[in-house]
Formats: sequence, C-alpha cells, structure tokens
Amino acid sequence: INRIGSGEVDYRLNINRNDEFGELSTSINSMANNIEEMLEAKRQLLLSISHELRTPITRAKLALSLIDDAFVKESALEDMDEMEALIHELLEAERLRENHSPLELENSNINELIEQLQHHYFKNKNLILKLEKQLPNIAIDETRISLAIKNLIKNAITASSTNDGQVIVRTSYDKTHINIDVSDSGVGIDEKHIPHLTEPFYRTDSSRQRKTGGVGIGLYLIQAVVDAHHGKLIIDSQLGKGTTITIHLPYQTHAKHSKVS
Ligand SMILES: Nc1ncnc2c1ncn2[C@@H]1O[C@H](COP(=O)(O)OP(=O)(O)OP(=O)(O)O)[C@@H](O)[C@H]1O
Ligand SMILES: [Mg+2]
Repeated sequence: INRIGSGEVDYRLNINRNDEFGELSTSINSMANNIEEMLEAKRQLLLSISHELRTPITRAKLALSLIDDAFVKESALEDMDEMEALIHELLEAERLRENHSPLELENSNINELIEQLQHHYFKNKNLILKLEKQLPNIAIDETRISLAIKNLIKNAITASSTNDGQVIVRTSYDKTHINIDVSDSGVGIDEKHIPHLTEPFYRTDSSRQRKTGGVGIGLYLIQAVVDAHHGKLIIDSQLGKGTTITIHLPYQTHAKHSKVS
C-alpha cells in the first residue's frame, strides 16, 4: 500500500485470502487500476490538446503576416512563437513518455553540446563552464539532451536574475555514469515544492508568471528526457541560497523506454 501511495501506481497487492484482508486488497487494487487509467487519460488529453492547437496557431500566424501595424504584428508574433515552442515541448514530453518517438542515440561528447548551447543561446550571460576534460563519450539523443540542459540553464539564469549571480555548468563522470550539474546562487526553492517541480505546469509562484515568462513545462520535459535515457534528475536547493540540478546519465542507455510518471 505504501508503494502505491508513493506513486508506484502500477504496483498491485497480491493477497489471496477469503477474508476481510482479501476483500480489502481487491478494493485497493481496483482503486489503483482507476488511478492508473486516470493518469493515462490525463496524458492523452495533454497530448490531444497540444496537437490540436498547432493548426490554429499556424493559421493565426499566417493571418498576422498580412497585418500592417508593425508593432502589433511583432508582439503578436512573439506570443505565437512562444505558444508554438510551448506546444512543441509538451508534445516532445508526451511522445517520449508514450514512446511514440524513440530516442535517436548517438555516441556524443556532452561537453561539446554544452559549449554549443553557450555559443548559441547564452553568449552574453554570466555562465561559467567547468567541463571535465576526460569526459568519455556517451550514447544519447543529442537533440533531447541539449533541450534538457538548455532548459536547466534557462531556469538557473531566471533564478539568478535578481542578484546577477553566476550560473555554473559542470560535467563529471565515474565508472557507470556521467553527471551534468547546473548550479546557481539564485532565489532557491522551498523544500515543499521540490517533489512537485517535474509535474506539468507546476510553478512555485504563479504571481510571477508573466515576469519570468514561463509556464512550468521545462522540468516536466527535462524529467521525460532523463527518464527516456534511464537516468536520474536530482534537485538540490536551499531557499535564498541557490539550486543545483543534476542530470545523472548511465553509459548503458537503451532506446527502450521505461514507463515512469
Ligand atoms: N534553478 C532554479 N531556482 C529556483 N527555482 C527554480 C529553478 N528551476 C526551477 N525553479 C522553479 O520551478 C518552477 C518550474 O520550472 P519549469 O522549468 O518547469 O517551469 P518554468 O521555468 O516556470 O516555465 P518554462 O520552463 O515552461 O518556461 C519554476 O517556475 C521555478 O519556480
Ligand atoms: Mg523553465
């Protein structure tokens, strides 16, 4: 029962008795079935909505391009682009979870991916790279891992925007894993939020939504990417001090997907 309660909703009790205990375990199992179906329905809904939203956005962008007012046009197009990016990330996350798009594994040097990210997106940011020179290559889906690291760096920069702190990306390895740490000395995260951060649309402070620009999809996507690589995401944070989020990747990644939610 503890295992089901702590989120392992595909676990079932195996008690074959003809008494109250037997009845109780049957009820708990059927409750777990219902919860599992509900979670699946939620995922399907998210997938369908995201998918259906793409066509109207494309149409709206086309219509916008015919408008003369440059200012209106520009700000509306920016909003549309943001929506498009969001839908792309939602679809990515759901497809990875459903194994609709398997990983495209390539033997890669993660340091190089991080350097490319810095070059393309974070040139003028206070971003320090501390990359392990001997880092072995690893079989990963480069596009997805880059997207995950990029989202971690974006979050760290947002969290440090009030004190202009440094963001440090560090790589390291041991016999079985490669670690990518993204650290900031920004606002930090209250302990009570940490278990929920990888839920879709979860944000610690919704009133700041517009100011920091996000909707709460980043960590959900990162977790989906990490799960698909059979890795772990470790969030370590102290309110007011800063945050370190680590992607822990095993060398042996299989394209096969394990169903975790
Ligand atoms: N490095 C960090 N420091 C402090 N808070 C963080 C950090 N990373 C994430 N958070 C908190 O976790 C929440 C969820 O992060 P997530 O990346 O999923 O969404 P977002 O950044 O708000 O929006 P999006 O990534 O979709 O643009 C953030 O709103 C923020 O409150
Ligand atoms: Mg984010």
